[in-house]
Amino acid sequence: MRTIIETAFVICIAALFAACKTNENTDPGLKDALDGQFLIGVAVNPYQTAEKDSMADVLIKKHFNSIVAENCMKAGPIQPKKGVFNFENADQFVAFGEENNMFIVGHTLVWHSQAPRWFFTDDEGNDVSRDELINRIKTHISTVVGRYKGRVDGWDVVNEAIDEDGSLRKNKFYEIIGEDYVRLAFEFAKEADPEAELYYNDYNLYKESKCQGVVKMVKAIQEQGVTVDGIGMQGHYFMNSPAIKNLEKSIVAFSEQGCDVMITELDVSALPNPWEATAEVSFGAEYEEMLNPYPDGLPEEVDKAFNQRYFDFFELFMKHSDKVSRVTLWGLSDAYSWKNNWPIRGRTDYPLLFDRDYQPKPVVDMIIEAAKGK
Ligand code: GLA
Repeated sequence: MRTIIETAFVICIAALFAACKTNENTDPGLKDALDGQFLIGVAVNPYQTAEKDSMADVLIKKHFNSIVAENCMKAGPIQPKKGVFNFENADQFVAFGEENNMFIVGHTLVWHSQAPRWFFTDDEGNDVSRDELINRIKTHISTVVGRYKGRVDGWDVVNEAIDEDGSLRKNKFYEIIGEDYVRLAFEFAKEADPEAELYYNDYNLYKESKCQGVVKMVKAIQEQGVTVDGIGMQGHYFMNSPAIKNLEKSIVAFSEQGCDVMITELDVSALPNPWEATAEVSFGAEYEEMLNPYPDGLPEEVDKAFNQRYFDFFELFMKHSDKVSRVTLWGLSDAYSWKNNWPIRGRTDYPLLFDRDYQPKPVVDMIIEAAKGK
Protein backbone atom coordinates (compact mmCIF):
# COMPACT_ATOMS: atom_id res chain seq x y z
CA MET A 1 0.00 0.00 0.00
CA ARG A 2 2.75 2.33 1.02
CA THR A 3 4.50 1.69 -2.24
CA ILE A 4 1.39 2.71 -4.19
CA ILE A 5 1.07 5.96 -2.25
CA GLU A 6 4.77 6.62 -2.65
CA THR A 7 4.62 5.89 -6.36
CA ALA A 8 1.60 8.15 -6.79
CA PHE A 9 3.45 10.88 -4.91
CA VAL A 10 6.51 10.54 -7.11
CA ILE A 11 4.32 10.66 -10.24
CA CYS A 12 2.60 13.83 -9.00
CA ILE A 13 5.90 15.53 -8.25
CA ALA A 14 7.28 14.50 -11.65
CA ALA A 15 4.18 15.85 -13.40
CA LEU A 16 4.42 19.11 -11.48
CA PHE A 17 8.10 19.40 -12.33
CA ALA A 18 7.40 18.72 -16.01
CA ALA A 19 4.65 21.34 -16.01
CA CYS A 20 6.97 23.93 -14.48
CA LYS A 21 9.68 23.05 -16.94
CA THR A 22 7.35 23.33 -19.90
CA ASN A 23 6.15 26.62 -18.58
CA GLU A 24 9.73 27.84 -18.21
CA ASN A 25 10.51 26.80 -21.75
CA THR A 26 7.41 28.31 -23.29
CA ASP A 27 7.67 31.63 -21.45
CA PRO A 28 8.94 34.05 -24.05
CA GLY A 29 12.50 35.19 -23.58
CA LEU A 30 13.78 38.61 -24.60
CA LYS A 31 14.84 37.25 -27.99
CA ASP A 32 11.34 35.94 -28.73
CA ALA A 33 9.64 39.14 -27.67
CA LEU A 34 12.06 41.30 -29.66
CA ASP A 35 12.01 39.07 -32.74
CA GLY A 36 11.55 41.22 -35.83
CA GLN A 37 12.85 44.34 -34.07
CA PHE A 38 16.52 43.74 -33.35
CA LEU A 39 18.89 41.04 -32.19
CA ILE A 40 19.53 40.90 -28.48
CA GLY A 41 23.05 39.91 -27.50
CA VAL A 42 25.24 39.33 -24.49
CA ALA A 43 28.99 39.41 -23.86
CA VAL A 44 30.17 36.00 -22.69
CA ASN A 45 33.31 34.62 -21.05
CA PRO A 46 35.08 31.26 -21.49
CA TYR A 47 33.50 29.80 -18.36
CA GLN A 48 30.09 30.41 -19.88
CA THR A 49 30.92 29.15 -23.36
CA ALA A 50 32.32 25.98 -21.76
CA GLU A 51 28.82 25.62 -20.23
CA LYS A 52 30.32 25.33 -16.76
CA ASP A 53 27.92 27.92 -15.32
CA SER A 54 24.61 26.06 -15.61
CA MET A 55 22.40 28.92 -14.40
CA ALA A 56 24.00 31.32 -16.85
CA ASP A 57 23.67 28.74 -19.60
CA VAL A 58 19.88 28.54 -19.26
CA LEU A 59 19.51 32.33 -19.34
CA ILE A 60 21.88 32.88 -22.25
CA LYS A 61 20.06 30.33 -24.39
CA LYS A 62 16.61 31.49 -23.35
CA HIS A 63 17.02 35.23 -23.77
CA PHE A 64 19.76 35.95 -26.31
CA ASN A 65 20.26 35.28 -30.00
CA SER A 66 23.66 36.94 -30.34
CA ILE A 67 26.94 36.75 -28.45
CA VAL A 68 30.14 38.77 -28.37
CA ALA A 69 33.43 37.71 -26.81
CA GLU A 70 34.06 39.83 -23.70
CA ASN A 71 37.83 39.44 -23.85
CA CYS A 72 39.20 36.38 -25.66
CA MET A 73 39.35 37.94 -29.14
CA LYS A 74 41.18 41.10 -28.15
CA ALA A 75 44.73 41.41 -29.52
CA GLY A 76 46.44 40.76 -26.16
CA PRO A 77 44.77 37.42 -25.40
CA ILE A 78 44.61 36.18 -29.00
CA GLN A 79 48.13 37.10 -30.17
CA PRO A 80 50.12 37.52 -26.94
CA LYS A 81 53.45 37.28 -28.79
CA LYS A 82 54.26 38.15 -32.35
CA GLY A 83 53.10 35.24 -34.51
CA VAL A 84 51.91 33.21 -31.50
CA PHE A 85 48.15 32.88 -31.57
CA ASN A 86 46.02 31.51 -28.78
CA PHE A 87 42.71 30.43 -30.30
CA GLU A 88 41.45 28.07 -27.64
CA ASN A 89 38.85 30.30 -26.02
CA ALA A 90 37.88 32.00 -29.27
CA ASP A 91 37.30 28.61 -30.95
CA GLN A 92 35.06 27.58 -28.07
CA PHE A 93 33.20 30.91 -28.21
CA VAL A 94 32.46 30.52 -31.93
CA ALA A 95 31.41 26.87 -31.54
CA PHE A 96 29.01 27.85 -28.73
CA GLY A 97 27.42 30.50 -30.93
CA GLU A 98 27.04 28.08 -33.82
CA GLU A 99 25.55 25.31 -31.70
CA ASN A 100 22.93 27.73 -30.47
CA ASN A 101 22.24 29.41 -33.83
CA MET A 102 23.40 32.78 -32.57
CA PHE A 103 24.62 35.83 -34.45
CA ILE A 104 28.31 35.82 -33.56
CA VAL A 105 30.24 39.07 -33.09
CA GLY A 106 34.03 39.22 -32.90
CA HIS A 107 35.46 41.94 -30.64
CA THR A 108 37.86 43.60 -31.44
CA LEU A 109 40.60 43.74 -34.09
CA VAL A 110 42.26 47.14 -33.73
CA TRP A 111 42.16 48.89 -30.35
CA HIS A 112 44.82 50.88 -28.52
CA SER A 113 43.95 49.24 -25.19
CA GLN A 114 44.54 45.56 -24.37
CA ALA A 115 46.93 45.50 -27.33
CA PRO A 116 50.24 43.82 -26.49
CA ARG A 117 53.33 46.03 -26.34
CA TRP A 118 55.12 43.98 -28.98
CA PHE A 119 52.57 45.17 -31.53
CA PHE A 120 54.21 48.58 -31.75
CA THR A 121 57.86 47.90 -30.93
CA ASP A 122 60.90 46.15 -32.39
CA ASP A 123 63.35 43.91 -30.50
CA GLU A 124 65.14 46.96 -29.07
CA GLY A 125 61.89 48.41 -27.79
CA ASN A 126 61.76 51.19 -30.40
CA ASP A 127 58.63 52.05 -32.37
CA VAL A 128 58.33 49.98 -35.54
CA SER A 129 58.13 51.68 -38.93
CA ARG A 130 54.85 52.63 -40.58
CA ASP A 131 55.13 49.75 -43.07
CA GLU A 132 55.91 47.26 -40.35
CA LEU A 133 52.91 48.29 -38.24
CA ILE A 134 50.63 48.08 -41.28
CA ASN A 135 52.03 44.60 -41.91
CA ARG A 136 51.36 43.56 -38.35
CA ILE A 137 47.77 44.82 -38.50
CA LYS A 138 47.26 42.98 -41.77
CA THR A 139 48.68 39.71 -40.46
CA HIS A 140 46.65 40.01 -37.26
CA ILE A 141 43.40 40.67 -39.10
CA SER A 142 43.87 38.13 -41.87
CA THR A 143 44.82 35.41 -39.37
CA VAL A 144 42.03 36.06 -36.89
CA VAL A 145 39.22 36.93 -39.31
CA GLY A 146 40.44 34.31 -41.79
CA ARG A 147 40.25 31.55 -39.18
CA TYR A 148 36.55 32.24 -38.57
CA LYS A 149 35.61 33.11 -42.14
CA GLY A 150 31.95 32.33 -42.77
CA ARG A 151 31.41 31.61 -39.06
CA VAL A 152 31.72 34.96 -37.28
CA ASP A 153 28.88 37.14 -38.58
CA GLY A 154 30.25 40.57 -37.72
CA TRP A 155 33.47 42.15 -36.46
CA ASP A 156 34.18 45.21 -34.35
CA VAL A 157 37.03 46.12 -36.68
CA VAL A 158 38.22 49.30 -34.98
CA ASN A 159 37.44 50.25 -31.39
CA GLU A 160 37.59 53.76 -29.87
CA ALA A 161 39.55 55.68 -32.51
CA ILE A 162 37.80 59.01 -31.92
CA ASP A 163 38.43 61.48 -29.10
CA GLU A 164 35.76 63.44 -27.21
CA ASP A 165 36.21 66.49 -29.47
CA GLY A 166 35.66 64.40 -32.61
CA SER A 167 39.28 64.30 -33.73
CA LEU A 168 41.22 61.08 -34.16
CA ARG A 169 42.62 59.75 -30.90
CA LYS A 170 46.37 60.14 -30.76
CA ASN A 171 47.10 56.48 -30.08
CA LYS A 172 50.08 54.43 -31.27
CA PHE A 173 48.33 53.37 -34.48
CA TYR A 174 47.71 57.01 -35.33
CA GLU A 175 51.18 58.17 -34.29
CA ILE A 176 52.97 55.60 -36.42
CA ILE A 177 50.62 55.17 -39.40
CA GLY A 178 48.48 58.31 -39.48
CA GLU A 179 44.73 58.45 -40.06
CA ASP A 180 44.85 55.76 -42.77
CA TYR A 181 45.04 52.98 -40.22
CA VAL A 182 41.28 52.93 -39.71
CA ARG A 183 40.50 52.53 -43.42
CA LEU A 184 43.29 49.96 -43.83
CA ALA A 185 41.86 47.85 -41.00
CA PHE A 186 38.47 47.77 -42.72
CA GLU A 187 40.11 46.87 -46.03
CA PHE A 188 42.06 44.00 -44.49
CA ALA A 189 38.96 42.68 -42.72
CA LYS A 190 36.97 42.78 -45.96
CA GLU A 191 39.69 40.85 -47.76
CA ALA A 192 39.79 38.23 -45.01
CA ASP A 193 36.03 37.63 -44.99
CA PRO A 194 34.02 39.47 -47.66
CA GLU A 195 30.73 38.22 -46.20
CA ALA A 196 31.21 39.35 -42.60
CA GLU A 197 29.64 42.62 -41.44
CA LEU A 198 32.22 45.19 -40.38
CA TYR A 199 31.68 47.72 -37.60
CA TYR A 200 33.22 50.76 -35.98
CA ASN A 201 32.65 50.71 -32.18
CA ASP A 202 33.07 53.53 -29.63
CA TYR A 203 31.70 55.05 -26.41
CA ASN A 204 30.02 58.41 -25.73
CA LEU A 205 28.68 58.54 -29.26
CA TYR A 206 25.59 60.35 -27.98
CA LYS A 207 27.84 63.42 -27.72
CA GLU A 208 27.40 65.72 -30.68
CA SER A 209 31.15 66.30 -31.18
CA LYS A 210 32.06 62.63 -31.02
CA CYS A 211 29.11 61.59 -33.19
CA GLN A 212 30.10 64.12 -35.85
CA GLY A 213 33.72 62.94 -35.68
CA VAL A 214 32.62 59.36 -36.36
CA VAL A 215 30.27 60.41 -39.17
CA LYS A 216 33.11 62.34 -40.81
CA MET A 217 35.57 59.47 -40.48
CA VAL A 218 33.13 56.84 -41.74
CA LYS A 219 32.06 59.05 -44.64
CA ALA A 220 35.68 59.53 -45.73
CA ILE A 221 36.27 55.76 -45.58
CA GLN A 222 33.11 55.00 -47.54
CA GLU A 223 34.05 57.61 -50.16
CA GLN A 224 37.23 55.64 -50.76
CA GLY A 225 35.10 52.63 -51.65
CA VAL A 226 35.64 50.79 -48.38
CA THR A 227 32.72 49.21 -46.52
CA VAL A 228 31.67 50.13 -43.00
CA ASP A 229 28.43 48.25 -42.38
CA GLY A 230 27.59 49.44 -38.95
CA ILE A 231 28.37 51.64 -35.99
CA GLY A 232 28.43 50.19 -32.51
CA MET A 233 27.44 52.71 -29.87
CA GLN A 234 28.90 51.38 -26.63
CA GLY A 235 26.14 51.69 -24.07
CA HIS A 236 28.03 52.23 -20.82
CA TYR A 237 25.33 54.44 -19.36
CA PHE A 238 24.48 56.02 -16.02
CA MET A 239 21.36 57.15 -14.19
CA ASN A 240 22.14 60.79 -15.00
CA SER A 241 23.64 60.44 -18.46
CA PRO A 242 23.12 60.35 -21.39
CA ALA A 243 19.94 62.22 -22.16
CA ILE A 244 17.64 60.02 -24.27
CA LYS A 245 17.21 62.80 -26.84
CA ASN A 246 20.96 63.02 -27.43
CA LEU A 247 21.19 59.29 -27.92
CA GLU A 248 18.32 59.47 -30.37
CA LYS A 249 20.02 62.19 -32.45
CA SER A 250 23.11 60.01 -32.88
CA ILE A 251 21.10 56.91 -33.82
CA VAL A 252 19.44 58.96 -36.56
CA ALA A 253 22.74 60.52 -37.70
CA PHE A 254 24.50 57.16 -38.07
CA SER A 255 21.56 55.66 -39.88
CA GLU A 256 21.53 58.60 -42.29
CA GLN A 257 25.18 57.81 -43.01
CA GLY A 258 23.97 54.46 -44.38
CA CYS A 259 25.09 52.43 -41.39
CA ASP A 260 23.23 49.92 -39.24
CA VAL A 261 23.23 51.07 -35.65
CA MET A 262 24.07 48.71 -32.83
CA ILE A 263 23.88 49.43 -29.14
CA THR A 264 26.87 47.47 -27.89
CA GLU A 265 28.27 46.89 -24.41
CA LEU A 266 25.05 47.99 -22.72
CA ASP A 267 25.17 48.39 -18.95
CA VAL A 268 23.53 51.03 -16.78
CA SER A 269 25.35 51.90 -13.57
CA ALA A 270 23.11 52.48 -10.55
CA LEU A 271 25.93 54.15 -8.60
CA PRO A 272 26.81 57.83 -8.18
CA ASN A 273 28.79 59.15 -11.08
CA PRO A 274 30.28 62.50 -10.10
CA TRP A 275 32.65 62.53 -13.09
CA GLU A 276 32.07 63.50 -16.65
CA ALA A 277 30.48 60.35 -18.12
CA THR A 278 33.05 58.20 -19.85
CA ALA A 279 33.96 54.59 -20.55
CA GLU A 280 37.68 55.29 -20.90
CA VAL A 281 39.23 52.18 -19.39
CA SER A 282 42.38 53.98 -18.25
CA PHE A 283 40.34 56.37 -16.08
CA GLY A 284 40.30 55.57 -12.37
CA ALA A 285 39.17 57.18 -9.10
CA GLU A 286 39.74 56.68 -5.37
CA TYR A 287 37.36 54.59 -3.29
CA GLU A 288 35.09 56.55 -0.96
CA GLU A 289 32.24 55.02 1.00
CA MET A 290 29.75 57.61 -0.23
CA LEU A 291 30.47 56.46 -3.78
CA ASN A 292 29.46 52.90 -2.87
CA PRO A 293 26.09 53.55 -1.23
CA TYR A 294 24.30 50.24 -1.93
CA PRO A 295 26.57 47.35 -0.92
CA ASP A 296 23.55 45.31 0.26
CA GLY A 297 21.08 46.01 -2.52
CA LEU A 298 19.22 48.92 -4.06
CA PRO A 299 16.64 50.70 -1.89
CA GLU A 300 13.12 50.38 -3.29
CA GLU A 301 12.94 53.89 -4.74
CA VAL A 302 16.35 53.63 -6.40
CA ASP A 303 15.47 50.20 -7.76
CA LYS A 304 12.27 51.55 -9.26
CA ALA A 305 14.06 54.47 -10.88
CA PHE A 306 16.78 52.13 -12.15
CA ASN A 307 14.31 49.78 -13.84
CA GLN A 308 12.47 52.69 -15.38
CA ARG A 309 15.73 54.17 -16.69
CA TYR A 310 16.65 50.86 -18.33
CA PHE A 311 13.20 50.62 -19.84
CA ASP A 312 13.45 54.18 -21.22
CA PHE A 313 16.55 53.13 -23.15
CA PHE A 314 14.81 50.07 -24.57
CA GLU A 315 11.77 52.13 -25.49
CA LEU A 316 14.04 54.34 -27.56
CA PHE A 317 15.71 51.35 -29.22
CA MET A 318 12.30 49.86 -30.05
CA LYS A 319 11.11 53.19 -31.44
CA HIS A 320 14.07 53.06 -33.84
CA SER A 321 14.03 49.34 -34.57
CA ASP A 322 14.21 50.18 -38.28
CA LYS A 323 17.71 51.60 -37.63
CA VAL A 324 18.92 49.55 -34.66
CA SER A 325 19.93 46.05 -35.74
CA ARG A 326 21.22 44.73 -32.41
CA VAL A 327 21.36 45.57 -28.71
CA THR A 328 24.08 43.73 -26.79
CA LEU A 329 24.44 43.66 -22.99
CA TRP A 330 27.97 43.85 -21.58
CA GLY A 331 27.55 40.73 -19.48
CA LEU A 332 24.77 38.60 -18.04
CA SER A 333 24.68 39.03 -14.26
CA ASP A 334 25.63 41.91 -11.97
CA ALA A 335 28.00 39.57 -10.15
CA TYR A 336 30.60 39.65 -12.92
CA SER A 337 30.20 43.11 -14.40
CA TRP A 338 33.35 45.17 -14.93
CA LYS A 339 31.39 48.10 -13.42
CA ASN A 340 31.95 46.65 -9.92
CA ASN A 341 35.61 47.57 -10.37
CA TRP A 342 35.58 50.53 -12.70
CA PRO A 343 36.30 53.40 -12.37
CA ILE A 344 36.69 52.50 -8.67
CA ARG A 345 37.70 49.06 -7.45
CA GLY A 346 35.48 47.20 -5.00
CA ARG A 347 32.07 48.83 -5.43
CA THR A 348 28.79 46.94 -5.69
CA ASP A 349 27.01 47.95 -8.88
CA TYR A 350 23.80 46.74 -10.51
CA PRO A 351 24.28 47.43 -14.23
CA LEU A 352 22.79 44.38 -15.98
CA LEU A 353 19.42 42.74 -16.60
CA PHE A 354 19.99 39.79 -14.23
CA ASP A 355 20.90 40.18 -10.57
CA ARG A 356 23.61 38.39 -8.58
CA ASP A 357 21.32 35.37 -8.13
CA TYR A 358 20.60 35.24 -11.87
CA GLN A 359 17.08 36.50 -11.31
CA PRO A 360 15.63 38.76 -14.00
CA LYS A 361 15.04 42.33 -12.87
CA PRO A 362 11.56 43.82 -13.33
CA VAL A 363 12.73 45.62 -16.46
CA VAL A 364 13.05 42.28 -18.28
CA ASP A 365 9.29 41.75 -18.08
CA MET A 366 8.67 45.40 -18.84
CA ILE A 367 10.65 45.02 -22.09
CA ILE A 368 8.98 41.72 -23.00
CA GLU A 369 5.51 43.16 -22.43
CA ALA A 370 6.25 46.32 -24.42
CA ALA A 371 7.87 44.35 -27.25
CA LYS A 372 4.94 41.97 -27.50
CA GLY A 373 2.67 44.93 -28.07
CA LYS A 374 4.65 46.05 -31.16
C1 GLA B 1 35.61 48.95 -23.70
C2 GLA B 1 35.89 47.78 -24.60
C3 GLA B 1 35.36 46.51 -24.02
C4 GLA B 1 35.63 46.38 -22.56
C5 GLA B 1 35.14 47.57 -21.83
C6 GLA B 1 35.39 47.37 -20.36
O1 GLA B 1 34.33 49.39 -23.78
O2 GLA B 1 35.40 47.94 -25.90
O3 GLA B 1 35.94 45.44 -24.70
O4 GLA B 1 37.00 46.21 -22.33
O5 GLA B 1 35.83 48.69 -22.34
O6 GLA B 1 35.07 46.09 -19.95
